[in-house]
Amino acid sequence: MVVVPALSIFILLLLLFNHGYITTAFAADSPACKPTCGSLQLRYPFGTGPGCGSPIFQPYITCAFINNQQQLLLLTTHTGSYPITSISYASQTLILTPPSMSNCTSMQPSSSNFGLDWASPFQLGPSTFILLSCQPPTSSLTLKPSGIPVCDPSYSYLCASIYTCPSVVGLGLPLFPPTNTCCAYSPGNLDAKGELDLNGLECASFTSVVSLGDYPTDPVRWEYGVALKYSHGGLDSGIVDTKCKSCEMSDGVCGYRVDDHDQFLCVCKNGYNTSSDCHNNYTPDSELLWGSGACDDHLPVNIWKMWSALVAGLMIIMA
Ligand SMILES: *[C@@H]1O[C@H](CO)[C@@H](O)[C@H](O)[C@H]1NC(C)=O
Ligand SMILES: *[C@@H]1O[C@H](CO)[C@@H](O)[C@H](O)[C@H]1NC(C)=O
Repeated sequence: MVVVPALSIFILLLLLFNHGYITTAFAADSPACKPTCGSLQLRYPFGTGPGCGSPIFQPYITCAFINNQQQLLLLTTHTGSYPITSISYASQTLILTPPSMSNCTSMQPSSSNFGLDWASPFQLGPSTFILLSCQPPTSSLTLKPSGIPVCDPSYSYLCASIYTCPSVVGLGLPLFPPTNTCCAYSPGNLDAKGELDLNGLECASFTSVVSLGDYPTDPVRWEYGVALKYSHGGLDSGIVDTKCKSCEMSDGVCGYRVDDHDQFLCVCKNGYNTSSDCHNNYTPDSELLWGSGACDDHLPVNIWKMWSALVAGLMIIMA
């Protein structure tokens, strides 16, 4: 008869464990914020989900599984979601590869405009748009209503090079098409809606070049992508300089409280969050059931194991 209460305590603990009441406090194996997404190293202000990175960036950035296994960091705007292929934290620049963008191996009509949200912390960076298969002559292409010419003739060599790619046939063009249907849009700009309006410009597609490398005349070897600059604004730069640096140096990930975006959090590997860094002694939070000690990755798990051993032992004695 005495076995029944002991058994029910055990089952209760098991239920709590399975329903995540205990695992959220003891998330030893999967910290809420991850330091990588796919092959990208993530640092502030980028994060893998709500509560991670900067609250200003979070609405635009997600780490998504593509085809169930490959992870991609995506930037989402009102025009679509774009894979981020690299981030330079030193120059605060990132490179996107919009799926609708053409390159030398593959050209196709762009099904949607590329655009950024004006309110977001991202702006166009140092890459060059090349508009493809436009209504000739592109020299008369102007922005409405300002009448500013779009194409920079001093970059026309880019057009001559990109039109040597056999994939131009994907745009319905003949091989080696006349370059008056191509236009290097430099400096590139987005319209009032924050878009590269291909329809309005009467161009079928676009590509964007980050770097020609050592091969200005060999478009096969160019680096394609849209470079963006990002800024995290004056408001939280103090946090970046002080708290976040020491958090990252202690192997933590910078984040913020989901219920209060102004509160900085350092998310540590052992599943704990602190307002300072992961080397600091952890002071128990009311949300946590049991907690003590500091940076030991396995401590919470050990406590859990101890408890289950205790309960199991109790059951055996009682039986
Ligand atoms: C720690 O912070 C992250 C991000 O804000 C949150 O998702 C997670 O639930 C927090 N963990 C605990 C134990 O409070
Ligand atoms: C060219 O574009 C295609 C289709 O978007 C993509 O699959 C491929 O990886 C790109 N190649 C290069 C070298 O960027």
